[in-house]
Amino acid sequence: MRARRIVLAQRPVGLPRQEDFATEVIDLPPLADGQVAVESLYLSVDPYMRNRMGAPAGPGPAQELGAPVAGGVIGRVAESRSDTWAVGDVVLGSYGWQTAAVLPEGAVRAVDVHGLPLTTALGVLGSTGVTGYFGMREVGRPAPGQTVVVSAAAGAVGLVASQVARILGARVIGVAGSEAKCLYLKSQARIASAMDYHGSGFPEALAAQCPDGVDVYFDNVGGFVSRTVRGHLAMGARIVVCGQIAEYNGERPDAEETPIPTLLLHRGATMQGFMVMQYADRAAEARAQLAEWIRQGQLSYEETIADGFDQTVDAFRSLFAGANLGKLLVRVGG
Ligand SMILES: NC(=O)c1ccc[n+]([C@@H]2O[C@H](COP(=O)([O-])OP(=O)(O)OC[C@H]3O[C@@H](n4cnc5c(N)ncnc54)[C@H](OP(=O)(O)O)[C@@H]3O)[C@@H](O)[C@H]2O)c1
Repeated sequence: MRARRIVLAQRPVGLPRQEDFATEVIDLPPLADGQVAVESLYLSVDPYMRNRMGAPAGPGPAQELGAPVAGGVIGRVAESRSDTWAVGDVVLGSYGWQTAAVLPEGAVRAVDVHGLPLTTALGVLGSTGVTGYFGMREVGRPAPGQTVVVSAAAGAVGLVASQVARILGARVIGVAGSEAKCLYLKSQARIASAMDYHGSGFPEALAAQCPDGVDVYFDNVGGFVSRTVRGHLAMGARIVVCGQIAEYNGERPDAEETPIPTLLLHRGATMQGFMVMQYADRAAEARAQLAEWIRQGQLSYEETIADGFDQTVDAFRSLFAGANLGKLLVRVGG
């Protein structure tokens, strides 16, 4: 069996380019006992992958040069020498940007989508959905009536975090990169307000929407957007640091007028980072709750699907231009 894979050829500097990656065709090894061959159906492309590619180096394990870019995959078992998996089983793996792979049977797990479309296993019921759920519910902990601001609100994590806050009774303001995304946030995600940070009037629009300050800021982006939101913290505010995508390509934000520790001091505020893996043993709980809210019509989700394995690098690059509404995936096979 042959497979194509996309490996990291060199460490990107700034926005990743096509030349930073190489596509290889490989012969997969014959199966040993306890192994399966999995053909990919959908691949995930995620901002954290850029962090692992270095320079600059991010936290977490570094992406190895010459190795396929690691990440989540939905695949179908094509050959099996395992007692656990039969040919045709649909599974979740983390073997990354490859059209197929030979894996130990323990390297994949069953897909648990609660009757929703398969793709949700990498989206609203995947790690980004679980991130938005626990990040808002357990770290942000908004009280009913409080004002919550979410950045990258129309992305995979942000769309879940925004709606979890709305379901918990908060007044939610989304920040996103286009008018179309803002319209979606207000009409489909049904949050109170949404604004495009590209407009010159963004700071004023935010100020007008938060006359009593921001009680919870769910920060997906860092940079200019977060600096602006931090200027409006209410007393006792909480900042949830989920991601800093504006800085993953090496851009460093301008110095803050008031240093962050001073800002936290003056607002009696707290700032807490979290990683979704801290909630790994409770992921099933989040999936069940999110699926129930979707069934009840309380939670909307979106997916942007790029078609074809050859589109993977372009799809990945497009995350930094905000091309996606909801979770960005690549369809590989069917
Ligand atoms: N802590 C954790 O465990 C964890 C887990 C998963 C993800 N994350 C983080 O959560 C964040 C969102 O991840 P995701 O997977 O849901 O991606 P996503 O939001 O679906 O996609 C990234 C979005 O970020 C926005 N963006 C890109 N560059 C930006 C910039 N310079 N300034 C402001 N916004 C920018 C774009 O939307 P616009 O059109 O709105 O600009 C883009 O659509 C990322 O920072 C990621 O690293 C953290």
